[in-house]
Amino acid sequence: MTSISDIRDMLPDMDGYAYFQTSGFSPKPIPVIDEIIHWLRFQSRGPALPFVGDKIQKVFEKTRSRVAGALNASPEEIVLGENATVGINIVANGIEWKEGDNVILSSHEHPGNRLTWYNIADRHHVKLRFVKMTNDRNRMLNELRQMVDDRTRLISISHVSRRTGMRVPAAAICEIAHNQDVPVLFDGAQSFGAIPVDVRELDCDFYAFCGHKYILAPQGTGGLYIRQDRIEWLKPSWIGSHSQKTFDQDGNMMLLDEAKRFEFGTRNLPDQAGFGKALDIWNEIGWKNVFQGIAQYSDHVKKALQQIPDLVLETPLAYEESSGIVTFHVPGYDSITVLDSLRDHEKVLGSSLEFSQESVRISTHVFNTDEHLARLVSGIRRIMGEGKGNSK
Ligand SMILES: Cc1ncc(COP(=O)(O)O)c(C=O)c1O
Repeated sequence: MTSISDIRDMLPDMDGYAYFQTSGFSPKPIPVIDEIIHWLRFQSRGPALPFVGDKIQKVFEKTRSRVAGALNASPEEIVLGENATVGINIVANGIEWKEGDNVILSSHEHPGNRLTWYNIADRHHVKLRFVKMTNDRNRMLNELRQMVDDRTRLISISHVSRRTGMRVPAAAICEIAHNQDVPVLFDGAQSFGAIPVDVRELDCDFYAFCGHKYILAPQGTGGLYIRQDRIEWLKPSWIGSHSQKTFDQDGNMMLLDEAKRFEFGTRNLPDQAGFGKALDIWNEIGWKNVFQGIAQYSDHVKKALQQIPDLVLETPLAYEESSGIVTFHVPGYDSITVLDSLRDHEKVLGSSLEFSQESVRISTHVFNTDEHLARLVSGIRRIMGEGKGNSK
């Protein structure tokens, strides 16, 4: 039986680094790497061999079931692809836009949920509106209420902010949107595996996710949840072999009924098998234990950082309103200089954020240790003591 403390031993050698970069890309457990290698070798025996093709296809479908289980969706509602951005693009390019339509995003979106819409705005003369993502959830909801109008075609917003780690009031957002018949797409890149996600409870229309962050699955794994009644509604912009139920030589086709209709062509199945293996590990540990572990550790980090004079915590204190991300700044201190110094002196890895000169993002997971935290805190104190990075 795997428990949460086993995760650390499953990870490859990180050369002593305190890895606070899971929100960017996570390290991968050895059993996940072994699973990929196993299926890569197996498939390489000859993808067309009947026992090879059938078996690996079953492994792929097993991953789909695991993902569906983790999101409380049904497998028929899951598209498996390369990343969250592909999922967002399936939605963005699957809507029949009319000039003057609008889409609501937030001020904290990643380029994946930003540039996709800049492109739609450019091509279809659609207007973009940005709700201000603040830790004051009521303020955010009020602003959103004012923004939705009869030309709003979609709200596309992160479930967890990549900048502050704030968890948006997702169910309330869906309620506001659905009251005006507006569908909701959540970008779940920072939430899947970091906080509980139940797409039925949220009642969202779409949920894009990736495997390579909090799930500790391979780079290049992710996908999209499409609620059953939205599968037919969404127009497929890219399809191909395997999207269809039937087709003939004269231009007729019937697409699959399932969300799988958005998948096509030759796929990287070994990586998807690794995605399934990572989910198996978390299932065995129990999601409740995982979220409890992330909550405890991130709480620990916040409390330790709050002890540092002048440091400003940007992340909400309660896990219920945040995630594994802890973002802070020290007024006047440049984030890149702080991060470079932490990396070079304490072997601590965090990340900076675009559009912010000072914010430092520390993303925590259950494999991070007290010793990692001690190094982070003493590093920040050292930098402040030296006045290094102080741009004042
Ligand atoms: C909120 C958010 N959305 C989307 C992405 C992009 O994810 P992917 O590489 O899976 O497309 C990221 C990655 O950092 C992210 O933080």
